[in-house]
Amino acid sequence: MLQDLKQIQNPVARSATAGLTLSSFLLIASALGLGFFKLKETHKIAVLAAVTGGGVGAIAGAVIAPTKAKSKPTSPKTANAGQNEWKDWRPFVVRRKVKESEEITSFYLEPQDGGPLPGFKPGQFLTIQLDIPGQPRPVIRTYSLSDYAEQPQYYRLSIKREPAPKNLDVPPGIASNFMHDQVHEGTVLPAKPPNGKFFLDLNKTTPAILISNGVGITPMISMAKACKHQGSHRTIWFLHGARNGQFHALRDEVNDIGVNVLYRYSRPRPEDEGHYQSTGYIDTALIQSEVWPALQQQQGSTAAEYFLCGSPAFMDGIRAGLRDLGVPDENVYFESFSKGPKAKSDKTAAAKSAAAGAVESSEVVFTQSGKTLTWQPSDGTLLEFAEANNIDPPYSCRAGVCLTCMCPLKEGEVSYEEEPTGTPDEGSVLICISKPGTKRVVLDL
Ligand SMILES: Cc1cc2nc3c(=O)[nH]c(=O)nc-3n(C[C@H](O)[C@H](O)[C@H](O)COP(=O)(O)OP(=O)(O)OC[C@H]3O[C@@H](n4cnc5c(N)ncnc54)[C@H](O)[C@@H]3O)c2cc1C
Ligand code: FES
Repeated sequence: MLQDLKQIQNPVARSATAGLTLSSFLLIASALGLGFFKLKETHKIAVLAAVTGGGVGAIAGAVIAPTKAKSKPTSPKTANAGQNEWKDWRPFVVRRKVKESEEITSFYLEPQDGGPLPGFKPGQFLTIQLDIPGQPRPVIRTYSLSDYAEQPQYYRLSIKREPAPKNLDVPPGIASNFMHDQVHEGTVLPAKPPNGKFFLDLNKTTPAILISNGVGITPMISMAKACKHQGSHRTIWFLHGARNGQFHALRDEVNDIGVNVLYRYSRPRPEDEGHYQSTGYIDTALIQSEVWPALQQQQGSTAAEYFLCGSPAFMDGIRAGLRDLGVPDENVYFESFSKGPKAKSDKTAAAKSAAAGAVESSEVVFTQSGKTLTWQPSDGTLLEFAEANNIDPPYSCRAGVCLTCMCPLKEGEVSYEEEPTGTPDEGSVLICISKPGTKRVVLDL
């Protein structure tokens, strides 16, 4: 009760509450006591008890020091992930389209039905579906949510226009170019609920070092904002590499969050002066020279967790560097936007594929499609096999990252070509990077 009183900041209200509470308590106690002992002049004693209680309570209430609102321990709130969630596809309207840099544009999506949006964990992604003229089927892609609010009014995606690789005669990125050129304010896009296992735990207290380059900045902004908005006790370092200011998306927004930032430009322009800290590429030497001394001073050790997102070569380099510095793998988390570095050891998947090994042929049952077919190694992955037989499972990355192709495995085992980066649900497999591992495989597809 004392703690409750201490929460009342106004001294008059606190005094009145304490007085009334103690007065009522003594009045009831005296009434019970007097009734029990059958004393005379009971009403006088009861009134005296109530008045005395009220007075003492009022004085006590006035002198009790209230708990300082600021010093009340704040534990970070958990995002309302899961609430208001929808199943499958939900139409979203592009409300705003904002150019963030030379090659990155943001899209603000609001549900067409006007209903509430579920929260999400900072770092998660959204899967969207695009009807692109000339494409045989809807194109599905995943994009990290690049903003954060506990109860979001919109979801923001920040998308880089993917050019064709140099020296290759292939078309430029299908979905990203369509988004930049053909998707405008008012366009409706179906989206699945936020998903993904690359997110920042706001309840931990270990410092978090967010390291990105290029469009890999998107999940990092969400993480940094969530930490600030939710009162997390994590110290955040935001390390980002860009070619120069022209290609550095969302710089002012990150500066406004109020975390430690280190920007490194590989080819800065004269007008970028004052907007970046060093020249070159983000590497672990920068962490050693700038981040570790600060951590050492702040907490007496360099213990931290590292979150990486960027080009595959960039992440490979940082991960190798961190390992050389003795940072344990379990303190390093990463998200690949495309086929990139190998995932941390996923014991379930590894054990399953080792046990399953490769088979020369397999009877594959697609239960929902009602098809039973014979698979051979030349048929490729289970996703390719399904597509070749006119079964069109959803997919996006085709690299074991985004979980879009995740499918329940009813019987048998699969053999992964490589360890998935994304972790499929228990009892499900990622068919984009797996082949049958037993003579019979039953997929709920
Ligand atoms: C979890 C996750 C989160 C992501 N978040 C973001 C994000 O926040 N922002 C963002 O911009 N992206 C993000 N991505 C990447 C995004 O999903 C798409 O992969 C990206 O936009 C490219 O899609 P696209 O359709 O434009 O390119 P695609 O058509 O898939 O092509 C990709 C590249 O391959 C090239 N190509 C085409 N044909 C060939 C060929 N025959 N041989 C070789 N190369 C070829 C294209 O020119 C292009 O450069 C994320 C991905 C994942 C998995
Ligand atoms: S399509 Fe992305 S994990 Fe399979």
